[in-house]
Amino acid sequence: ADGVLEIPVIFHVIYRTQSENIPLSQLEDQIDALNEDFNLNNPGRNTIPAEFAAVESNVGIRFVLEDVIRVQSNKRQWRPDDSMKFTSSGGSDVVNPQQNLNIWVVNNMPYRGGNILGYAQFPGGSWSTDGVVLDHRFTGTTQYSTGRTATHEVGHWLNLRHIWGDGGCGASDFVADTPDSDGPSRGCPTYPQVNCGTNDMTMNFMDYSDDPCLNMFTEGQKNRMMSVFASGGFREAM
Ligand code: ARG
Ligand code: ZN
Ligand code: CA
Repeated sequence: ADGVLEIPVIFHVIYRTQSENIPLSQLEDQIDALNEDFNLNNPGRNTIPAEFAAVESNVGIRFVLEDVIRVQSNKRQWRPDDSMKFTSSGGSDVVNPQQNLNIWVVNNMPYRGGNILGYAQFPGGSWSTDGVVLDHRFTGTTQYSTGRTATHEVGHWLNLRHIWGDGGCGASDFVADTPDSDGPSRGCPTYPQVNCGTNDMTMNFMDYSDDPCLNMFTEGQKNRMMSVFASGGFREAM
């Protein structure tokens, strides 16, 4: 009624050790961070430069913790291959993906000599693998995280691309009000960072800056996300 879309969240915590079986409070912290970021309440938004504050958006999605499913597994690590999304491969089956955001929390995802913080499926994929996967160390508030990996991944889940369009100058994220850039940002960049002839929006959730330095979505990104829920969109039923 107030124009805010409500999305129930199902967490699947797949753990081996007790420390990987993260507490409810950490999952609640994660929900709080999502609600800050999708409702114009990010704690760092006061640092957004004026040219970008002009297109900052209140996306208007409220995330509600619906259920927590806990599954013990003897796996020490997972590949980003969706195996955690199936009980038959030691994970946990998706729950009503047409109605819910499913988030799988796993212990560790090594990949190409590094670690993946999280990954998401774009709209239009199989319902059986619909949702977001997070490393437990990057879920909610931890020594490594303030919860912005989930915000980034939910952006992908709602059809957003990386802000640099995953290519050099000219590669598009299909959003007009995010300036073109030639690659991801790292750390906590100072303003301005000029690439492709414009200042980079390094504080956009769809860039790769560190959590405390990711602070905004734009109006164009909001429109792209909302079209997923529009009549004829991928999640019309939700
Ligand atoms: N590497 C992941 C991805 O591309 C997540 C990056 C999240 N970044 C962050 N600062 N939390 O989907
Ligand atoms: Zn990404
Ligand atoms: Ca753009």
